Amino acid sequence: MSSHQRLPRSPARRRLLQGLTGACALALARASRPDDAHADLVCGNAGSTQPLPQPGASGFLGRIRLDATPLVLRAGAAPPGSGVGALAYQAARKGTFLNPTLVVRKGDPFRVVLDNALDQATIVHWHGFAVDTRNDGGGSVLAAPGERYDYAFDVRNRGGLYWYHPHPHGSSARQLHDGLYGLIDVEDDDTDALRRALDLTPGSTELMLVLRDQDPARRYASSVAQSVHGFYGDALRVNGVACAHADVGTRLYRLRILNACNARTLLLGLRTASGERIAFQVIGNDGGLLPAPVVCAAAFLASAERLDILVDLRDAAIGDTLVLETRAFDPMHAELALPAAAAADEPDPHAGHHAGGTAATSGAPPPATSAADPHAAHGGAWPEGAARDILQLRVRTRVAYDRTVPAQLSTLAPTDVTGAEERPLRLGYKSGRWRINDRVFVMGETPIEVARDTTEIWLLRNYFTSMPHAMHLHGFPFEVLERETSPDQVKSRAIDRQGRLPSDLGRKDTVLVWPGESVRVAVRFDMPFAGAQTYPFHCHNLEHEDAGMMLGVKVA
Ligand code: C2O
Ligand code: CU
Ligand code: CU
Repeated sequence: MSSHQRLPRSPARRRLLQGLTGACALALARASRPDDAHADLVCGNAGSTQPLPQPGASGFLGRIRLDATPLVLRAGAAPPGSGVGALAYQAARKGTFLNPTLVVRKGDPFRVVLDNALDQATIVHWHGFAVDTRNDGGGSVLAAPGERYDYAFDVRNRGGLYWYHPHPHGSSARQLHDGLYGLIDVEDDDTDALRRALDLTPGSTELMLVLRDQDPARRYASSVAQSVHGFYGDALRVNGVACAHADVGTRLYRLRILNACNARTLLLGLRTASGERIAFQVIGNDGGLLPAPVVCAAAFLASAERLDILVDLRDAAIGDTLVLETRAFDPMHAELALPAAAAADEPDPHAGHHAGGTAATSGAPPPATSAADPHAAHGGAWPEGAARDILQLRVRTRVAYDRTVPAQLSTLAPTDVTGAEERPLRLGYKSGRWRINDRVFVMGETPIEVARDTTEIWLLRNYFTSMPHAMHLHGFPFEVLERETSPDQVKSRAIDRQGRLPSDLGRKDTVLVWPGESVRVAVRFDMPFAGAQTYPFHCHNLEHEDAGMMLGVKVA
């Protein structure tokens, strides 16, 4: 298909290049030189891919607009053959839903009843939401099997893509892996304006992409090695489908992406079928729309992080294919250099948490992995950092489209950090456990105490003999201020003097901290709730979280 040659030379590309800062233009120039041969599509010809499922009016990921009537969300066994996994969230409201996408407006009531139909305790956490402890679902209170738990609050978050998943300490990784997850689409005036300006329709020109490496046909099996490195599945699925495609027209598309892997970090990029790398515009992330779009060549996306991007197909030719891929990078599992014995010098932290668990959860001997066989330790058939195709965008129709990306997407003042205290938080591995400031999580303890309505700068420092940790704070969005001593693969992608990446801008709730790196974030502890509130701060590598890489935070 000679038409493939057309896309990279197109005016779209020139448009993307306009107004780039020096650093980013360089990054783009570097990025357009493919360094791994990638000429063929991994999914092969049209016959071997499946259409990308999108949230519709019912069914898997279907959109439910919340209102004053509480929505019953039932956590239980998935219907046979659903392909979601062994477990699913189910809801009924003018149709039946599997892992529904909850749609709500900023300022509106959020009323959900969790109905626990599992044979184990659970609780739902609304990831990224600024709520009180009772509504956070952070794990301090659980719903026993057969019990219900009511959530009721008004949405304070900015418009953006959030998500929900289980948060029972010690079992979060298992329950997410087995299929319990869903999206939350928060709308506000800015997101309305964007949809109007670009003529975006959810489900067709605005696509939701949930990226997971969990195999829906398998149940979770924990192991000591996995609790050190994290769970890595052997294939990537987007909305449940491996090798997905979407038929598209010659216009702008918005991709709203969630990394819902237990542990795997991705490096997202776009390329043509002939291997030419194409830039995209980042318009938002965890905390909603950025103030302005930023051109980006490729973006890391760690567990729980979201990315909102625009893909420009205005000058594509019919027959062109654009591939969303995860590119090769160094996963930097420097903890593999730690003594191999470290992984086994303490019993499996999960053992005992699962009364009546299977052999796999109750003290099975650790697989002989760790230092000896790094691949088995973090990826088996698909090591972390190895390239894979995710989704093909196949240009099928020519459409008239004359919209342009607004120069301003939202208003977001920088966090005022005058007088803010700096709180150092060290991420490291000691005595067989990942730790924050040398501590592991103890339920009910809050080693971090913060005065309400103050601003703090959290200095997240990761040791060199470590691995990347995706650090997540409940309850309070934060601003990434600066990255220091970043590894080359991060530093080379920085867009400002603070060493920040395009995906660091705006507001975040999860930030990936690489080995040897220091990341400063500003957290404003604004809180309208009476009384002290407690929230977890943890690594979103869920195996790390379950094994105790988490501290309680008290805000009073
Ligand atoms: Cu997405 Cu504490 O979790
Ligand atoms: Cu969260
Ligand atoms: Cu971690």
